[in-house]
Amino acid sequence: MNHIYETPEETARAVAELILAKAKEKTKQSLPFNIALSGGSTPKLLFTLLANEYVNSIPWHFLRLFWVDERCVPPTHPESNFGMTYDSLLTHVPIHDSNIFRMQGEDNPIKEAARYQKMLEKELPLQDGFPIFDLVLLGMGDDGHTASIFPDNMDLLQSDQAVAVGIHPVSGQERITLTGKAILEAKQVVFLITGSSKTTVLREIIKHEAKGERYPAFYIAKNAKAADFYLDKAAAALL
Ligand code: 6PG
Repeated sequence: MNHIYETPEETARAVAELILAKAKEKTKQSLPFNIALSGGSTPKLLFTLLANEYVNSIPWHFLRLFWVDERCVPPTHPESNFGMTYDSLLTHVPIHDSNIFRMQGEDNPIKEAARYQKMLEKELPLQDGFPIFDLVLLGMGDDGHTASIFPDNMDLLQSDQAVAVGIHPVSGQERITLTGKAILEAKQVVFLITGSSKTTVLREIIKHEAKGERYPAFYIAKNAKAADFYLDKAAAALL
């Protein structure tokens, strides 16, 4: 399902309202809302909005935050996804440390991927050995990557591990990332994508063009149990 809005801010607000609604649903069942967060400038817009306008409406004590991916840098590094989330969201909302499950980008990548996977297997319900998130929030890069699964790392979509090490194709930076199977077990996948730099790739993905098949985001969108695209008009210009 595509949800298209005028501006990035309106798009982020629509995702905030979705998170509010879904979290409340779980709260009614006295169950936690398990959400996996991505990094990037578009998710940051959402986190800032949540911090500014949803502090008193979202049942934060029912949220358990996980990460989709993390750069292999310390949490204080400017490129850290956790660091970005901490500054834009976590310091502003009443969420307990015990409900924040950070990927430790400062540690050995292979060891951290194994540790994080083991933690997920303990903390979340499993299907075929893979963790079930209530919601996985994804961005998409200009190259059609999502999470830290890049077009030259398509094998991570089929990995038998739930958490693996990805490598950024340009910088060579190592990343801890959920794999395709871990993302696809989610009850819902939400792509939050804005800006004209994503327009062409997005058309290829949403129009199921043959070229789209080379993008990790295409594979996730095609195989997810439920995938929703939240887009601004710039990103959706060719749809
Ligand atoms: C990361 C993200 C990555 C990001 C996309 C979109 O660690 O960079 O997880 O998948 O979400 O690259 O980033 P922008 O919203 O900044 O374009």
